[in-house]
Amino acid sequence: MSDVNIKEKLESILNEAVKKIEESDVPEKLNEARINILGKKGQLTAVLKSMKDVEPEDRPKVGQMVNEAREKIEGKLEAALSEMERKIREEKMKAEVIDVTLPAKKNNIGHRHPNTIALEEVERIFVGMGYEVMEGPEIEYDLYNFEKLNIPANHPAKDEQDTFYVNKDIVLRTQTSPIQARVMESGKLPIRMLAPGRVFRADEVDATHSPSFHQIEGLVVDKNITFADLKGTLAEFARELFGENTKTKFRPHHFPFTEPSAEMDVSCFKCGGTGCRFCKGSGWIEILGCGMVHPHVFEMCGIDPDEYTGFAFGVGLERIALLKYEIDDMRLLYENDYRFLKQF
Ligand code: DAH
Repeated sequence: MSDVNIKEKLESILNEAVKKIEESDVPEKLNEARINILGKKGQLTAVLKSMKDVEPEDRPKVGQMVNEAREKIEGKLEAALSEMERKIREEKMKAEVIDVTLPAKKNNIGHRHPNTIALEEVERIFVGMGYEVMEGPEIEYDLYNFEKLNIPANHPAKDEQDTFYVNKDIVLRTQTSPIQARVMESGKLPIRMLAPGRVFRADEVDATHSPSFHQIEGLVVDKNITFADLKGTLAEFARELFGENTKTKFRPHHFPFTEPSAEMDVSCFKCGGTGCRFCKGSGWIEILGCGMVHPHVFEMCGIDPDEYTGFAFGVGLERIALLKYEIDDMRLLYENDYRFLKQF
């Protein structure tokens, strides 16, 4: 082949390439053209392969012509591709017009549950008095939930606290009081503990009942602890939780694991004690159960009742949350409706 022939051939490849490139309307077609011309089996590559038929003295010149053709074609391919990409971008931008009048997407961040807020408040008060926050298992031995709290097998208190039995020895705890027994048994004295947790009872759901709710247990054991310590501590708790002017009243009551036992009422923080709808006209609101740890409970938990005394109390967490935030139906606390939760 002469260099004149090759030159003609190259020109025709070049022309055809330009035509193909101009006809391409998508990047895929450009790529096809590239492969057809410059690829391993492409037209230009075929020309290079035919160099062996060229007179040796003509080869440098022919080689140069081939290279020039390749450069031109590559340049055109590249220009066409970037123009195509520019157009695609432009069209995409046009399609994605931003409507600045559209309402912004709001990120709803969660909200602490009223129970949590109330619990943190109670914990803050008692931690401030030197109490340690502890926990116990929700699935509990009958031994701790009842026996060691002075509630033997046939005690009527067991009826009031009917619960879910896993088997005859294991229950879903009906109260946080078993944590008292566990902590006393661990043998570290003195004790100043606060133990919040979920409890379970076979109760029907209504505005004030739920088969699963929460309590906060308190226990103090040391030498020379008296009922005066109990009263002073819980009265201070009530003042911190419900306001400085809150008065407290202790009514005799019965709990199997404390002796004497009492229930504590606080003066109504709505009417100040004169009587209103909130306190059902009485001026007082019942808040918690409490008492001096029963000597028999001490004995069962390995503590000498002649050396140590102590007091305990149990508060319903939901009760605190309902009162503090003036919620009139306990069920609202379990629905987790964000519109409800975000109010607190
Ligand atoms: N566990 C009792 C209940 O569920 C509440 C209670 C009363 C706890 C007196 C105590 C206490 O620690 O001393 O009804």
